[in-house]
Amino acid sequence: MEKKIAVILGDGIGPEVTRQSIKVLNTIAKRFGHVFQYTEAIMGADAIDKTGNPLPDETIAVCLASDAILFGAIGHPKYDNDPTAKVRPEQGLLKLRKELQLFANIRPINTYAALQHLSPLKAKQLAGVDFIVFRELTGGIYFGKKQLSEDGASAVDECTYTRVEIERVTHLAFQYAQKRKNKLTLVDKANVLETSRLWRKVVQETAAQYSDVAVDYMFVDNAAMQIILNPSQFDVVLTENMFGDIISDEASVLSGSLGLLPSASVGNKTALFEPIHGSYPQAAGKDIANPLGSILSAAMLLDHFQLTEEAEAVRKAVEWTLANGFVSKDIDPVNNYSTTAIGDLVSDHIERHSRHNHHASVNQSTII
Ligand code: IPM
Ligand code: MG
Repeated sequence: MEKKIAVILGDGIGPEVTRQSIKVLNTIAKRFGHVFQYTEAIMGADAIDKTGNPLPDETIAVCLASDAILFGAIGHPKYDNDPTAKVRPEQGLLKLRKELQLFANIRPINTYAALQHLSPLKAKQLAGVDFIVFRELTGGIYFGKKQLSEDGASAVDECTYTRVEIERVTHLAFQYAQKRKNKLTLVDKANVLETSRLWRKVVQETAAQYSDVAVDYMFVDNAAMQIILNPSQFDVVLTENMFGDIISDEASVLSGSLGLLPSASVGNKTALFEPIHGSYPQAAGKDIANPLGSILSAAMLLDHFQLTEEAEAVRKAVEWTLANGFVSKDIDPVNNYSTTAIGDLVSDHIERHSRHNHHASVNQSTII
């Protein structure tokens, strides 16, 4: 298979973790006989520094001309503490999501036996935890009208949803539930918000087309509590943009480290794959960040290309590193491995264990 992948390294630790994913994708390509062509593009603080624009048109063009996008991280502290900054790195990512109509953000939450001691939850609460957050990504308060009054004394962020925006992500979430444990939980605030009541109505109507899926409804404040108290009750969690942002970070602590969690953003155009963590500026350039969130995002990218066996080979290799203590500093502050070393270990494991070896006759090494 031949595929074009746009690579946006981004800010902070983005470049160093994404390079590990490219290494892993190259190993997959070699072992399974694929050709992945990469085109680099810029976004975020990096792009502001170079061009003054967090999302240059050139980047959008590269993304539209590619089969998938692999993205690192966005954000820089110099903007975080300056509420008056007119141009901000995050504007780049938000605009890209909108331009590419990436309306669904898929964030799988699972746990690893080897890391259970890192979770703030007890082992018995973690048993059987395996759910996916489906976050609507191009609507709601993120994209509503924003206003600051002239005297600076009041501000507005409008939250709007249309039926169509809710329907498209809802269908996708139901289809995932059908492939999983046939359960969907809508998280909203329908006791207070009009937009949430529209969500509930649309989801109730859509549910009629998926009669094999059990649906329940939960207010977001209760959901925040249930994710900690009883996380194994969830299968597919569907929610709007802002609630999804918050509860997916919350859910990430179940696995033991935010650094482990991947995501896929899909829509009508090129899909984008990125770890859910931020740019972690304190670690940038130190080769200490956890590359597994990015590497597992690359596995989701392979799934998107319907390269299921290849994606599985990446996940198996990641599990092997975790089970054998080849972990980064966020997981073990005392005995740890560098970002690069973990990328190498994952690649080596794929190299040694993938069943397919299309290049065997050309490249066979004596160890294999
Ligand atoms: C995320 C991030 C982004 C968001 C930021 C960087 C704009 O937190 O992808 O979860 O809020 O969507
Ligand atoms: Mg977030």
